[in-house]
Amino acid sequence: MKIAISLLTALFAATVQAATPADLLATYRNEAAQQAAGFQPSAQRGAEFFARRFTVAAKMPACSSCHTDNPAQPGRHVVTDKVIKPLAPAANTERFTDLAKADKWFRRNCTEVVGRECSAAEKADFVAYLTGVR
Ligand code: HEC
Repeated sequence: MKIAISLLTALFAATVQAATPADLLATYRNEAAQQAAGFQPSAQRGAEFFARRFTVAAKMPACSSCHTDNPAQPGRHVVTDKVIKPLAPAANTERFTDLAKADKWFRRNCTEVVGRECSAAEKADFVAYLTGVR
């Protein structure tokens, strides 16, 4: 058991270091599966979440408010007007390659737009959607 745990820890550490969008997706999927057995990410749900309009912040009702309806295109910050690089890995290879960075922005943007942190399931769906965008 101890060996299994340290092997898992080593595997996890390796995943975090050289992360790909698929690694991040697996991390969120596993976390979500611990909360709801059999959870499978859905790109369709992720697309709906991306476009859904919440009622928390009038200026930024949706993820697409800043990231636009097409995440393969650059976005624009609704408050600062600064350009935001595309969110889709197909258009920006840096996306979802750093778990800490992704988590930081999920925390900030979900809190602002949704009014709470996103769940692991929502993050998994979101990454599943974005990695499928061409
Ligand atoms: C007010 C503007 C704004 C809104 C609305 C917004 N974002 Fe973002 N988002 C940003 C900015 C700014 C960055 C960081 C700059 C960058 O990485 O290009 C970012 C980056 C991210 C990242 C980092 C991805 C990575 O690995 O590089 C994620 C994840 C993300 N946003 C998710 C969301 C989600 C989910 C929503 C909706 C709940 C959302 N964003 C809504 C402005 C916004």
